[in-house]
Amino acid sequence: MDSKSENVKVGFVPTMGALHEGHLSLVRCCRNQNEVVVVSIFVNPTQFNDKEDLANYPRTLDKDLELLRQEHVDVVFCPSVEEMYPEPDTRTFDLGGLDTTMEGAFRPGHFNGVVQIVTKLFEVVLPHRAYFGEKDFQQLTIIRYIVNQLNIPVQIVPCPIVREPDGLAMSSRNMLLGANERQAAPLISQVLFKAKDLKNSLSVSELKKWVVDQIDANPYLQTEYFEIVDDVKLQPVNSWEDPVAKVGCIAVRAGKIRLIDNIRF
Ligand code: PAJ
Repeated sequence: MDSKSENVKVGFVPTMGALHEGHLSLVRCCRNQNEVVVVSIFVNPTQFNDKEDLANYPRTLDKDLELLRQEHVDVVFCPSVEEMYPEPDTRTFDLGGLDTTMEGAFRPGHFNGVVQIVTKLFEVVLPHRAYFGEKDFQQLTIIRYIVNQLNIPVQIVPCPIVREPDGLAMSSRNMLLGANERQAAPLISQVLFKAKDLKNSLSVSELKKWVVDQIDANPYLQTEYFEIVDDVKLQPVNSWEDPVAKVGCIAVRAGKIRLIDNIRF
C-alpha cells in the first residue's frame, strides 16, 4: 500500500532497542497521532565512534518486541547491517557546524552516522511524522536541520525527557552502570535542576563552573562538557540577556559509561 496516497498517516519511531519508558513515551505519542505506527530497532554501527561501546551496547530484542506488542505497534522493522548497508555508506553530510560542538566534538563522526541511518530509514519507511526525544537534544536539532536542508517530507515531532523516579534521564546505557556509578548518577539531573534556580544569582560563566564543580566533586562522576547554547544553532550563550531559547547540555563519564542530559533555562 502506498500510504502517502491514502489518508493514512504513518508515524515512525527510530530506536536502537533495549527499550525503556523513554522510548515507549515516543511510541505512545506516535500511536496517538497516527493511524500506522512503525518502530525500528537497529544498532547502527556507523554512529559508534568507539568499537567497545558498539560491542557492549545492550541488545534485548525479545523483551523489546513484547513491549511494542503491548503498545499496539503495527510494524517493527529490525533490519540487518547488510540490509541497511548493502554498500558502505560514503556520504558525508554538511551539518552546518551543528556537529562540531558538544557530542560532536567528543564523538567524531557520530552525527554523520546518525544522519546516514536516519535518512536511509526515512527512505524505507516513508513516514509522515517521526518522533525524537529531547534527551538527545543535539541529535534532535541536527535531524531537524537536515530534514529542512534536504527537503525531506517528514514532520519531526520532539518528545520530552523521561526520567527515573530519582531524576536520572532514562537511557539504554543506564543498565551498564556499576552500582556506585548508578547511585551517583542522579546527581547530574539534581545539579541541572538547581542550576535553573540559581540562574538569577550567577552569570552564565559562573553557573557553568558551578555545575562542573558540583558534579566533579563526586568521585564516580567526571564532566566532559557543560554548555549553555541556543536551541537552533547550538551556539554558546554568554549572557542571560541574550534573547534566545537556552538549553544547558551536559555529558558526564560515570566509569566507562557516558551519560548525557539537558535542561531548558
Ligand atoms: P536510541 O538511543 O535508542 O533512542 C531512540 C529515541 O528515543 C531517540 O529519539 C532518543 O532521543 C529517545 N530517547 C531515549 N531516551 C529517552 C528519554 N529518557 N526520554 C525521552 N526520549 C528518549 O537515538 C538513537 O537511538 C539513535 O541515534 C537513532 C536515532 C535510532 C539512530 O540510530
